[in-house]
Amino acid sequence: MKIACVVGARPNLMKIAPLVRTMRDAKVDYRLIHTGQHYDYDLDGAFFKELGIPTPDLNLGIGSSSHGRQTGEALIGLEKEFYKNQPDLVLVVGDVNSTLAAALAAAKLDIPVAHVEAGYRSLDRRMPEEINRVLVDHVSEFLFAPTQDAVDNLGREGIDKDKIHFVGNIMAETLFQNLGKIEIRKKHKEFGVECKRYIVATIHRPENVDDIERLREILSAFSEAPLPVIFPVHPRTGKQIESARLLAGVNGHLRLTGPCSYLEMMSLLSDAALVLTDSGGVQEEACLLKVPCLTLRNNTERTITITIGANRLIEVTKPSISRAIGESMASGCVKWPTPEKWDAQVAWRILTVLLGEVKPQHHALTGTDARQ
Ligand code: UD1
Repeated sequence: MKIACVVGARPNLMKIAPLVRTMRDAKVDYRLIHTGQHYDYDLDGAFFKELGIPTPDLNLGIGSSSHGRQTGEALIGLEKEFYKNQPDLVLVVGDVNSTLAAALAAAKLDIPVAHVEAGYRSLDRRMPEEINRVLVDHVSEFLFAPTQDAVDNLGREGIDKDKIHFVGNIMAETLFQNLGKIEIRKKHKEFGVECKRYIVATIHRPENVDDIERLREILSAFSEAPLPVIFPVHPRTGKQIESARLLAGVNGHLRLTGPCSYLEMMSLLSDAALVLTDSGGVQEEACLLKVPCLTLRNNTERTITITIGANRLIEVTKPSISRAIGESMASGCVKWPTPEKWDAQVAWRILTVLLGEVKPQHHALTGTDARQ
């Protein structure tokens, strides 16, 4: 069986790492294809190195552009790749534009698609990732769900239950495999802050950073927090801060730094008193590391983190952010359980299903345009 694994952006990399390791150990024939959606070393190369992901067999180098162009260029490049190497299965992770392009290219060629992280729903169709999640799930043959809620979402959308497999959260496997390395990093010392005496913040979603006034309110609330706020800045956020000179007059407790590598980020998170974020993955990582999280969004697809009491959604205004930080600081030590199957066996559960069910394709793919 030949599997094509596709990645494109930073949040894909921690998800693919345990999968390629498990495939290599099981001697599965796989190819790793990178669309090149993320290309900066900080968002990409550093993660390959730290997580031991092999160099991709192919990098399409699509880079940044509008959603349509980015998805379209990945779709064209991946279709050519699938024609050439004829995989029996295309495996995609997460919900970025590259995930959608890969799933669509494969489905149109009648190659089965496996989606890892299937069934998450924010129910907000204004989010590009929500569109990607829904479309990818509906063209996939193997839907690997991280939670029972995700399984239920897929059932409600009429997806055949034989295609759905509740395997747990692949992000948990990466985290548990790297816990030992995180312990020896202790990044917070570089910022001159003490363990549990600082907050970590990440903000990069378009609805929070593309609106300058909203971003100004966020930064202002962070700067007035009762503890130092270490803020690794995504390039999208950095460009906005720079172009609108948003740091003028904002200082206080805000400590900006460039994007962190995976181990740096996990070491920062693990020792934090509180996490403020609009990222999906960070909500899960905070939950696993037992650090309370406040999510600066109206909704989340990671609903389990809310249900078990690890996470709260907060309105994105300065008074609301400041109030929520104060309440969280005052509430002391809050405990919650680790969600079911968020463990270090997820990749193996996935591979067991695939090895049992995927049939090698014996017919050559046909078509005209993409073979030119
Ligand atoms: C993408 C994903 C998002 C994910 C995020 C994590 C989609 C729809 N969005 O958003 O789900 O949470 O990655 O990082 O796929 N840029 C760089 N260097 C890079 C990559 C991007 O400077 O290596 C800049 C680009 O110039 C662009 C901005 O960051 O202006 C946005 O990049 P893009 O890939 O379009 O989306 P993200 O916001 O990173």
